[in-house]
Amino acid sequence: MSKTATAARPKRAKASSLDPLIERLNSFSADNYWDLGKFLVERVIPAALNEGIFGDQVLKRMADVPGFKFPYAMLKQCMKFFTYYPDVQKRKLPEIFYFELATKVDDSRKRDQYERLALKEKMTISEFQKKIREDELARREDNRTQFGFDLKERNVWSFDTPDPRFGRSGYKGRLPGQVIANALYYYTSPGSVVVDPMAGSGTTGDILEALPYFGDRKVRMYDLNPSDSRIERANILLTGIPEQSGSVDYLFLDPPSEFYPGGEDADFSPELARSETMMSMKSLMRESNRILKSGGRVSILVECTTGTYGTIDFPYEVNALARELGLKQIGKVYLPRRSDSSRKIVTGGEGLRPMASDCREMLTFEKP
Ligand SMILES: C[S@@+](CC[C@H](N)C(=O)[O-])C[C@H]1O[C@@H](n2cnc3c(N)ncnc32)[C@H](O)[C@@H]1O
Repeated sequence: MSKTATAARPKRAKASSLDPLIERLNSFSADNYWDLGKFLVERVIPAALNEGIFGDQVLKRMADVPGFKFPYAMLKQCMKFFTYYPDVQKRKLPEIFYFELATKVDDSRKRDQYERLALKEKMTISEFQKKIREDELARREDNRTQFGFDLKERNVWSFDTPDPRFGRSGYKGRLPGQVIANALYYYTSPGSVVVDPMAGSGTTGDILEALPYFGDRKVRMYDLNPSDSRIERANILLTGIPEQSGSVDYLFLDPPSEFYPGGEDADFSPELARSETMMSMKSLMRESNRILKSGGRVSILVECTTGTYGTIDFPYEVNALARELGLKQIGKVYLPRRSDSSRKIVTGGEGLRPMASDCREMLTFEKP
């Protein structure tokens, strides 16, 4: 931990009669949070267990009760506070420090280090919060430099601009390379054979070439219209993916918008459009299942379409398809689009007001 937070600390004001009041105020909500946590752990959770309600379920249920005062996240924080610091009254720092630690720092050794630091440096709570926040930012920056790309640690991957090193600017349907880099980080391992059968502008190849972290993966790319010499020509819907059965560790599928319904005519048939899209998806998933090794993984980008006819929930459909093939879902990531690039709206016929999709999903499956 660096010591930046204490460098420019102003001198503490002289003791005043307000001090004890401020201290009391300081710990006021924290007191209540701890009591709430204790009540949850000692009374609510055992009662819920008796009724067959396990884990966080009871917190979620309570938060859903109309008029209930506390949101789920707060209940969870209170439980952590009490669980990590049942002895909080006997500790040396004001309670709010421990509330901060319990809710912001998961590693118990780090919590102890912060406690010692706060005591040694006589930190204020603002300094303490700033220190924890700065360390977290520094840790993320370290990750970024360690891996060479913007590593996402939660399942919403949103990028304002595509990393210019990966893929070709202006290529229709080019994906921000950060999405593929994160997928490779989570779903491949050293030595993995990676296949991108709709490689477009070669984003996957660029990542594997540019980032030393992925240096030991091997990649093969295909496309209907190859954009450079690294990509082999193939119409995978017609001929399948030109790879041996059981030979691939990871497949990245980024289907083109043409695979989705896009009708604007009054006689547009959602059922026909749905079955056409699903035929393409079936073909992709069957081929993936064929060429994957046991333990191999496939990520597919897929989204709902909504038109005057209602919604076709393609992520749901692809999931069902994967299950039929015996694949196990191991990941679901949301990929919000930048608003200027949303898919075109299906306006044909009468019915619901259409709404464009601005969020794709990346579903990942594993072959047993
Ligand atoms: C959404 S783009 C992929 C973009 C790519 N991930 C990138 O970042 O540049 C979909 C690609 O699929 C290709 N494609 C469409 N139909 C195909 C088919 N039947 N077989 C192989 N490639 C196909 C298109 O040429 C297009 O380049």
